[in-house]
Amino acid sequence: MKHLLSIEDLDRDGIETILERAASFAEVSRREIKKVPTLRGQTVVTLFYESSTRTSSSFELAAKRLSADVVSVKAGGSSVDKGESLKDTVETLSAYGPSAIVLRHPHAGSADMLTDWVDAAVINAGDGMHQHPSQTLLDLFTLRNSIGSLEGRSIWIIGDVLHSRVARSNIQGFQKMGASVTVAGPPTLIPRGIESTGCEVRYSLDGLESADVVYLLRLQNERMGENFVPSIREYARLFQVNGRRLGPRQLVMHPGPVNRGIEISSDVIDSDRSLIAEQVASGLVVRMAILYELLTGPESVRIDSAPEDPVQIGEPA
Ligand code: CP
Repeated sequence: MKHLLSIEDLDRDGIETILERAASFAEVSRREIKKVPTLRGQTVVTLFYESSTRTSSSFELAAKRLSADVVSVKAGGSSVDKGESLKDTVETLSAYGPSAIVLRHPHAGSADMLTDWVDAAVINAGDGMHQHPSQTLLDLFTLRNSIGSLEGRSIWIIGDVLHSRVARSNIQGFQKMGASVTVAGPPTLIPRGIESTGCEVRYSLDGLESADVVYLLRLQNERMGENFVPSIREYARLFQVNGRRLGPRQLVMHPGPVNRGIEISSDVIDSDRSLIAEQVASGLVVRMAILYELLTGPESVRIDSAPEDPVQIGEPA
């Protein structure tokens, strides 16, 4: 695998390989010295045209934990503000010879376009409403650690599915790993024809008790050009997941950022049924695994010699 553009790029074995690798990096992360020399001498560029806390910080830290040099560019405050195009921006940053470019951009297909312009491995850190593959991998890693196999499990994805790249990636990822997926939300926020992906569709939370995992999405007001719900209060009344709507064995996930009191209540966020903090922690080791697989695998674009097994190299870089 040279790039990570979509969860479709990975079959079940490919996903398992990354999750296994992430588990080995989780072991490294518990050591006193958490850094390994695997990507020493290589450069990773992160380029974010949209706001991010979790994805940007964890990719940056992941690259640093692997001893890569990291250049982090946010479009706001860069020469993008002066009108520089995406192509000119990545060609400029390519002058530093990066091994990988991590891109978040509001347009679907933008990461795909980059692959024609650069020699580096391209990692899609979210492209419009299309895909967010590293989120799916960290969610799968979190679930594997909490409930094991997803075979036969029921996962409900609730909320603004229409505007969600996480939903599109996760439907594919959860199904690839054997789970059945139900999407639920108001009809205005469920994409037409989504049944063709193999998921069930509900326009209410009736039947939620059958879910093993409840995966919540926020209303993406930044992508809404018109009113998709009558009011926030009405949306919360019908679709908010709170303590009264959950059974004791049901687990709750959310990609973040959460809007407390809208799609999810504070008591659920802060309860032991919530995997939200685990998802954030998984983001670091899964993104280390993604960089490792792309930059040291047989199709990688790396320029140095073969790396050692990361679990055997705990010494400081
Ligand atoms: N889940 C996620 O992509 O969060 P950020 O927007 O904070 O990166």
